[in-house]
Amino acid sequence: MSTALVILAAGKGTRMNSDLPKVLHPIAQVPMLVHAMRAGSFLSPERTVIVTGHGSEAVAEAAKAEDDTAQIAVQEEQLGTAHAVAQAREALAGFRGDVIVLYGDTPFIDPSTLERMIEARESFDLVMLGFDIAEVQPRYGRLIMDGDRLVEIVEYKDATEEQRAIRFTNSGLLACDADLLFDLIDQVSNENASGEYYLTELAALANSRGLNATAIKCDEAETLGVDSRADLAAADAEYQARARTALLQQGVTLMAPETVYLAADTVIGRDTVIEPNVVFGPGVTVESGATIRAFSHLEGCHVSRGAIIGPYARLRPGAELAENTRVGNFVEIKNAEIAEGAKVNHLSYIGDASVGAATNIGAGTITCNYDGVMKHKTTIGENVFIGSNTMLVAPVTVGDRAMTATGTVVTKNVDPDALAVARAKQENKPGYARKLFDMLKAKKARRDKKA
Ligand code: UD1
Ligand code: MG
Repeated sequence: MSTALVILAAGKGTRMNSDLPKVLHPIAQVPMLVHAMRAGSFLSPERTVIVTGHGSEAVAEAAKAEDDTAQIAVQEEQLGTAHAVAQAREALAGFRGDVIVLYGDTPFIDPSTLERMIEARESFDLVMLGFDIAEVQPRYGRLIMDGDRLVEIVEYKDATEEQRAIRFTNSGLLACDADLLFDLIDQVSNENASGEYYLTELAALANSRGLNATAIKCDEAETLGVDSRADLAAADAEYQARARTALLQQGVTLMAPETVYLAADTVIGRDTVIEPNVVFGPGVTVESGATIRAFSHLEGCHVSRGAIIGPYARLRPGAELAENTRVGNFVEIKNAEIAEGAKVNHLSYIGDASVGAATNIGAGTITCNYDGVMKHKTTIGENVFIGSNTMLVAPVTVGDRAMTATGTVVTKNVDPDALAVARAKQENKPGYARKLFDMLKAKKARRDKKA
């Protein structure tokens, strides 16, 4: 059976109080919409349609970045969830099969739940997805069941007191044959408390035609809808908790799990140790048996087996660290390859560079990669010793086994095996320190007297 996804993402999200469209707010650094798309992609949909409205261009861009085959249907005016689905009609022209409606603001739906919905479609014309809420609250439509038959869905605003007490509530997700779906939507009216075209009316409409509808159940956590910043924080916390548990199960040591912040795509190998307070941005892979020490920040980088990073290290996009490398405190690495066994242990910036195997970079070294207009590359060979406080003015190359003296400003290439020294010669003046101190003390005494 072919499936198509329709993901509703036109809403403004007024309660987010934001200039960013609601569905682009990130959870684990990935927009909510993309989480929903990834869940849906497990069904290998033939087509994916994103219904956009508020911030349409930005939403479309994020959707295309995730899946360039995604189609965009613009809902100019947000007249309700049924009206939103109706906008996908053209994009689904000629499609035969089931439509799964997902919400861009319900990011945690489990692919296995979507599969259960598809299975339930074998016995029912319309399948809705519901969940039992722990506490009665003034949101979510109520699912009115008769055995396993869904009789109707009543929105909270339109519900009687008795109906409001029902715990089985609507997630909004549904599965239905495409032709039937659009046929039923044509009949939806907007005569209700909100004056909107409710998708939830489909249940009653299906029944009135002698068709059969049902609602299957999933965990409340899966259908967690995000409507406010508080919901967003709660959803992120929920995601983080799950991701940490998964890492622990995979054999990663998290010394203080609740202080480690992960991105949705963070990959960490077995027997790696993560110390407290480490932040993972998008695009990080850490291989097995590495150590990420406390207070480090990593994004867009690759850390190989046996490397020790931090404490207080910053790895930025393009940092590529080979096996057994060392990156110590207050070191920033960006767009640079650090080869096997090389060390950058203290207070350094290494950007747009390559550092050869077993090379040691002294404390306070800086690759001066930016001339104010363009970025330039620094190439450092193998077994090099870069003295402390060396400034490498790129573009520049330091050959294998070369050395730079402490405090050197390297502006010319250094040959292999050579020593580069570029600093003023030292001169010692006997007794001058004493004289200078006496002079300064006398000056201060005169000034204190005046005051
Ligand atoms: C909806 C359901 C409710 C369910 C709840 C679950 C209806 C009428 N109500 O209510 O039964 O319990 O979700 O979270 O369906 N959207 C559009 N265009 C529109 C309106 C909405 O794209 O014109 C999108 C929103 O961006 C959002 C989703 O549809 O992603 C749901 O809309 P929302 O306004 O949050 O509906 P609820 O009032 O939460
Ligand atoms: Mg909602």
